[in-house]
Amino acid sequence: MTDRRAAPTGAAGDTAAPRLTLAVLISGRGSNLQALLRHRGDYEVTLVISNNPEAEGLDHARRAGVETAVIDHRTFAERTDFEHALADRLSRSNAQLIVLAGFMRILGADFVTRFVGGMINLHPSLLPAFRGLRTHERALEAGVKEHGASVHFVTPELDGGPVIAQITLSVEHKDTPQSLASRLLPLEHQLLVAVVGWFGEERVFYANGQVCFDGEPLSQPLRLAEGGAVDRPLPRADSSRGS
Ligand code: GRF
Repeated sequence: MTDRRAAPTGAAGDTAAPRLTLAVLISGRGSNLQALLRHRGDYEVTLVISNNPEAEGLDHARRAGVETAVIDHRTFAERTDFEHALADRLSRSNAQLIVLAGFMRILGADFVTRFVGGMINLHPSLLPAFRGLRTHERALEAGVKEHGASVHFVTPELDGGPVIAQITLSVEHKDTPQSLASRLLPLEHQLLVAVVGWFGEERVFYANGQVCFDGEPLSQPLRLAEGGAVDRPLPRADSSRGS
């Protein structure tokens, strides 16, 4: 991985900031990867890695001319061997940010610790609610009125790292796990593209276990409204003031 500040600029005399380079890790369909590929802005996907050789998302990457790698976890005797291979491949890349987008392997603490602050995950729930799997089913079982997706920094605690931003949708009476998943998917795309865009603009970073946005630590995750507007959390001092 390379440090963005040390990355070379383009043509001689080109002083524009280099675009953020991304490694995207996937396991299947890759629709979130596709959303990132469609919205290239201040960032560029330079590497796609899948643990699953059959992942449909690999074809999206190839069609977009992006380098791909398959590191099939089933070919390694131990999880740590798989993670060493993954870490090696990432370290040899020029990626400045690792994006887990539908990557369905749990990563161990040694691996994660190596990349803390430089790795984000998209999770289909409003964290801290419903960490782990079957989030739509569990949201319906719990009878929540609001569901959604989160993008968070990856730390050794599963789905427990600081949340950068969330997008919500109202749960309807007739919803099923499938309908929730399909209604949420386009919102996930919107959320992931927005958050990665903020990294590209250097608006978001990780410091001392917290998310910093526009130079300030966030007191709570940003909320992205449908259509892309950001609801900023009130500064702590304001939120305690009476009306
Ligand atoms: C998304 O719903 C994501 O939240 C979950 O897995 C799904 C991946 O979809 N973790 P895709 O592969 O990006 O289409």
